[in-house]
Amino acid sequence: MRSALILAVGLLAACGSSVAPNGAATPVLKTDQVIVAHRGASGHAPEHTLAAYDLALQMGAEYIEQDVYSTSDGVLVCLHDTTLNRTARGPAENCTGNVSSKTLAQLKTCDMGSWFNEAYPDRAKPEYVGQTIPTLEEVFQRYGKDVNYYVEIKPGLGQGQPSVAQRLLDLMNQYGLREGSVQRRQVLVQSFIPTVLLEMQRLDPEIPLIQLMQPLTTNAATMALIARYSFGIGPPLSDVNASLVQQAHGLGLAMHPYTVNSTEDLERIAGYCVDGLFTNFPDRYREVLAAKRYDCPAPIR
Ligand code: G3P
Ligand code: CA
Repeated sequence: MRSALILAVGLLAACGSSVAPNGAATPVLKTDQVIVAHRGASGHAPEHTLAAYDLALQMGAEYIEQDVYSTSDGVLVCLHDTTLNRTARGPAENCTGNVSSKTLAQLKTCDMGSWFNEAYPDRAKPEYVGQTIPTLEEVFQRYGKDVNYYVEIKPGLGQGQPSVAQRLLDLMNQYGLREGSVQRRQVLVQSFIPTVLLEMQRLDPEIPLIQLMQPLTTNAATMALIARYSFGIGPPLSDVNASLVQQAHGLGLAMHPYTVNSTEDLERIAGYCVDGLFTNFPDRYREVLAAKRYDCPAPIR
């Protein structure tokens, strides 16, 4: 059985494909940039659901992204918005308002997939209805040490103590992900808030950090400060050009822009020799990187 699998992998590689963690064939990359599935494969499936994370991995994403908040009873959950209003359906007392004001039991009554089917009927699937909000622990349990995680600590009031950074670190230790994070960046911790990253650094100086940047903040002086504590930066697509990538690399910073979705933009940003990027369409980025060898130095990884 094992030799048959090895043979199948070899044949696929010879044909220009590789095998994703679930065994699906994906095109082999000619340029080794990092594919980050933004909120999972959120262009194809409802963001921050297990369905979106599963699909991202099937499509050959190297990292799955989680945005995290704390519930009112201290559990880290994966959601992008501060409030539930856009993506949750269910009892109003549980599924509207600020996510950090709800208990986990309340949140687990919310359907996180129906909004997607309503918004994107061309991509709707019956199985998306009833998807629930995942806890970060459920995500770590489901995928274990087989995949890479790109966790964003979101700003939010009322997230309680211990801090979200401390609880993230505790989960990484509990699920054996801390060493992989330190040794090979299996978990990257990102935030727009420098003090959050500095707290993470104080808690564990070896965890690799990504400083997210708002539009029009990507100047050389700011990046030089970030380089003192961060492994890399996440600038907005609108700020990225070849010169900015060179400046970042000159400071030793990896660069992973967000959020790049059209084939035209994926090709353009890949051509600037970024080290990877966030996309809702990991399959599309993979095709771009498989179609052509970009003349770039080895990415910072
Ligand atoms: O974390 C990178 C990117 O996701 C930042 O923007 O708003 O989608 O979390 P946002
Ligand atoms: Ca994010």
